[in-house]
Amino acid sequence: MAGPAALGAFDFIVFGGSGDLSLRKIMPALFHRDLDGELPQGARIVGTARRPMDRAVFAALVEEHLRRHVSSQHFEAATWQRFRDRLDYVAIDSAGDKGWDGLATALKATSSGSDGPRASVFYLATSPDLFGEICRKLKVAGLARPEARVVLEKPIGHDLASSRAVNAEVGAVFAEDHIFRIDHYLGKESVQNLMALRFANALFETIWNRGEIDHVQITVSETIGVAGRGAYYDGAGALRDMVQNHLLQLLCLVAMEPPTSMDSDGVRDEKVKVLTALKPIAGPDIATKTVRGQYRAGAVEGQAVAGYGEEIGRPDSATESFVAIKAEIANWRWAGVPFYLRTGKRMPERRSEIVVQFRAVPHLIFPGAAGHVSANRLVIRLQPDEGIKLHLMSKAPGAGAIRLTPSHLNLSFAETFKTRVPDAYERLLMDVARGQPTLFMRRDEVEAAWRWTESIMEGWQAGDERPKPYMAGSWGPSAAIALVQRDGRSWHEDMD
Ligand code: BG6
Repeated sequence: MAGPAALGAFDFIVFGGSGDLSLRKIMPALFHRDLDGELPQGARIVGTARRPMDRAVFAALVEEHLRRHVSSQHFEAATWQRFRDRLDYVAIDSAGDKGWDGLATALKATSSGSDGPRASVFYLATSPDLFGEICRKLKVAGLARPEARVVLEKPIGHDLASSRAVNAEVGAVFAEDHIFRIDHYLGKESVQNLMALRFANALFETIWNRGEIDHVQITVSETIGVAGRGAYYDGAGALRDMVQNHLLQLLCLVAMEPPTSMDSDGVRDEKVKVLTALKPIAGPDIATKTVRGQYRAGAVEGQAVAGYGEEIGRPDSATESFVAIKAEIANWRWAGVPFYLRTGKRMPERRSEIVVQFRAVPHLIFPGAAGHVSANRLVIRLQPDEGIKLHLMSKAPGAGAIRLTPSHLNLSFAETFKTRVPDAYERLLMDVARGQPTLFMRRDEVEAAWRWTESIMEGWQAGDERPKPYMAGSWGPSAAIALVQRDGRSWHEDMD
């Protein structure tokens, strides 16, 4: 089969180039792609930020972070030299007028001598308040050429109206198919594997519905707190930061109908259908179907940690660092099948997983003494230890009377494929350079996700209730356990 089309030289411009996302994620991802020979000759990487800095200082800053975020085994001297030669830096005041000519000149210099126009990718790793302004400035500077693409980091706005406003401002400069709204969860190997699992295997399709599936759980738990990001996080909270994007994207991939092809609209049309079929949660449902929590001082992985309010220096903050939601999809495939979503900071372990809980056997033929029969469960582990585990019942070995015991089929990607798992950004940045938008969010998708999320935000606001406390290092407030227990269910615990 033919591989992806060869990539022509391009300019990759990062706004917020000296910021955390750029240095921790974007530069290491581009470096790895260079290491694997995927960056074409002549590809340039230009950092921009307000702070004046010459190219050598920027390169030293990038090197310092690459040494931290790329393993020493992969930080090869020859690749670093090649990568350093691609780097440039232009000081720009994104909100003002300074520096734009400098950027235009730097990009003109790279395009001279090449055959045909070079693609430019403008990566906006800045606050969303600046997205519209930067796009307008790019236009005025003559840089929003037809072959240019723009990448928007989440969050796109902080509610439906502001996201519409951002999308409209960016859309006034760039055509929709040149706007790449990134949700890095879609670039994770294990998330793409979920599509392979569902659509490259005939096995699951006939049982992937309300007839066979009892419920689905999606958990994204983190051990980290919000230190260093308090200013952003406190204005956002877990619902906006994680549910509106990452968790809903995972829900879409589990619940969507098989698309007719992997092309961008095939997949995105199906995801939008799921988002628009989500039952709105409002009024009395807010209390019974959602839980918001905030961590208090505790211990995570053996280390004592401060509570949320102390960590960000706002002891009275009412922002949630944990959310649990019972979501429901009103369509033929999923009617009556709850999707329990849960995400939080300062939890006991870093774990992202999707649990598909099948229904119990319809009739039990074994005597009670044979033991309890648990229903089958498919666990798709996104991180760490990416893999898929199918929980089954089997007979315990032995010649006596039959005894049943839980067992599992385990596919560990690390053990099976024995290769480095690329970071999500590596795949996504190359997709932007190639102009492939399948793994990026379309405008209607982002807006549909906001519409559903917003009704929960409004419900919380109207209720004026503070988030429930939970101890750092626990699985969230007890109300999150009650949320599933009320339905006679429990959160999945991996015991083996
Ligand atoms: C980001 C959120 O989008 O995703 C962070 O803003 C969160 O708060 C991060 O920590 C989690 O990503 P990952 O890839 O570490 O699961």
